[in-house]
Amino acid sequence: MQNEIPKALQFSHKQSYVKLEPGSVKKVVVIQGSPRKEGTSKTDIVAKSFADGCHKAGAETETIYLREKKIRQCQGCFHCWTKTPGKCIHNDDVADIMETTESADLVVYASPLYHFGIISLMKRYIERTLPRIEPFLIKRDDGKTTHPPRKGFKYIQNAVIIGVCGFPEVEHFGAFSANFHYIANAGGEFGMNIAAEIYRPLSEILGNPFYKEENDRVLGAVEKAGYDLLTNGHIAPSLIDEIAEVRLDKDQVYEMANKSWEICIDECMTMPELQQKLIES
Ligand SMILES: Cc1cc2nc3c(=O)[nH]c(=O)nc-3n(C[C@H](O)[C@H](O)[C@H](O)COP(=O)(O)O)c2cc1C
Repeated sequence: MQNEIPKALQFSHKQSYVKLEPGSVKKVVVIQGSPRKEGTSKTDIVAKSFADGCHKAGAETETIYLREKKIRQCQGCFHCWTKTPGKCIHNDDVADIMETTESADLVVYASPLYHFGIISLMKRYIERTLPRIEPFLIKRDDGKTTHPPRKGFKYIQNAVIIGVCGFPEVEHFGAFSANFHYIANAGGEFGMNIAAEIYRPLSEILGNPFYKEENDRVLGAVEKAGYDLLTNGHIAPSLIDEIAEVRLDKDQVYEMANKSWEICIDECMTMPELQQKLIES
């Protein structure tokens, strides 16, 4: 194994958060990227607790479920930059979603971790926001290249990133987090100001009554995070740590997970079906 990383490939991403003006967020729009239905989606469970906290802080909240929307793949034709500036060739639900996010003071991107990255459905939506910027190359403050924003679109949008994953360690979100920060750091590229990131590993136990105590602790902290962000303008790092921390024995977690998978295989059930059965029993 050769461990010397070429200098050109020593990537690092700048991770910083904007402080919001306390009380300034009146409308929160959650963009939910899980393909699972409400009730079985763990992303949804976490995003709902966050939205509840925002609601308690006085904000109006709205959730857009990407799985219910028609979002065609960007064709890379650049019509939105050339022939029809600001307008995509596709006539689907993306323009409406963008319009809804434009009306928000805070946009929450909530996605499960799939193969260590942002789920493709969410990525597909983000890629389709290309009409928001112009094609020209400009130098940003740190000397790197970006594109200018297009007139008529809200340039900077405050954002919160929510992620859930099956493994019990938060470290798996490294590339997911980096992707959002690269998008945000590009400035003109997407116009995103990240106010907070909330990651919950071992998400599959959410909603499982057997782990009520752990789940209530986590979801209570997520709700507080939503409330705190809107009332204080920021979320204390210790609260984010509390959400990310798994207070269960890892060997017991393996045992429980592997037993559940065995039942699913033996009884020809999906995991959401088994979880539903557990909730009902
Ligand atoms: C195709 C696929 C890829 C996944 N990749 C990862 C992964 O890289 N790391 C991880 O910890 N969990 C992974 N998971 C587990 C999901 O993150 C987990 O089941 C999560 O709860 C799904 O969120 P949802 O319930 O909102 O859909 C993956 C699940 C699927 C279906």
